Amino acid sequence: MKFEIAKTCLYFHLDRNEIINHMNINPMIMDSIKSVLANSNNIVFLTGAGISEESGIPTFRGPAGLWKTYDPMKLASISGFYKNPKLVWEFYQDRQNLILNCQPNAGHFTIAKIEKLKNSNVLTQNIDGLHKKAGSKNIVELHGNILKAKCTNCNFVEDINKVIIKSLPPMCSLCDSVLRPDIVFFGEPLNQTTWKNAQDISTNCDIMFIIGTSLNVGPVNTLPFYAKENGAILVEVNPEPTVFNHIMDFSFRGKAGEILPTFLAYFNTK
Ligand code: OAD
Repeated sequence: MKFEIAKTCLYFHLDRNEIINHMNINPMIMDSIKSVLANSNNIVFLTGAGISEESGIPTFRGPAGLWKTYDPMKLASISGFYKNPKLVWEFYQDRQNLILNCQPNAGHFTIAKIEKLKNSNVLTQNIDGLHKKAGSKNIVELHGNILKAKCTNCNFVEDINKVIIKSLPPMCSLCDSVLRPDIVFFGEPLNQTTWKNAQDISTNCDIMFIIGTSLNVGPVNTLPFYAKENGAILVEVNPEPTVFNHIMDFSFRGKAGEILPTFLAYFNTK
């Protein structure tokens, strides 16, 4: 699908009220994005850690990012896991406990509301399950789910709250092998069915929102290119520029929980 708007990169370095001011100053620009939203029939939300930041879950990179304090090679890589599964489980148990007490924010809820208005899919790198908690149904969890455990040997997969943990690492109730968090570690491929699905969804969308991801991690950071090459509009929502800033059609500089509800208003006022 083609949109009849200029594909220029626009920057709104402002908070929600100031965006509205900006809209008053330049209604043509805001009409363009409004028209993109109103005419889109196949929407993708590609999300990363930043969308859950306002729910109290730290991001990975940036000044307050997890990888400033913790070594991802020790705690989030497949080699680190086999070297010291107990240490890795301790790290993920702390994160599980945090995540279990976190709630979706306005960003997650807006995406779930848009799914009720338009055909849309969430492709998320997040392992926190907050999109589902907010009510989204069409979700592809590209990096797995921290609230599940799976066996390193057999096909056993279970919700973490149903796993009997006597000591760390927990053991499989079927084959007595070591269990691991059901996530993708660095050094591992993505599940190939999941990845193919994400590629297809990205290729077929007419608009992709890229929200709260630094786009530093592959292969997920190639998905905007699948969309762009097939004529989709790219809309970035992030307080900071990302490494692929230059390919975006619109860049909204701000927090997901503040910017995304503004888009919902455009759908509703169509
Ligand atoms: P990063 O931590 O790399 O990036 C988070 C992005 O969110 C940054 O670009 C921030 O500017 C932005 N951000 C922060 N607060 C925000 C807010 N309130 N609203 C919108 N954006 C905000 O996280 P990811 O890109 O998701 O993988 O990281 C990708 C992968 O690297 C993760 O899935 C994880 C990590 O290591 C694994 O653990 C395998």
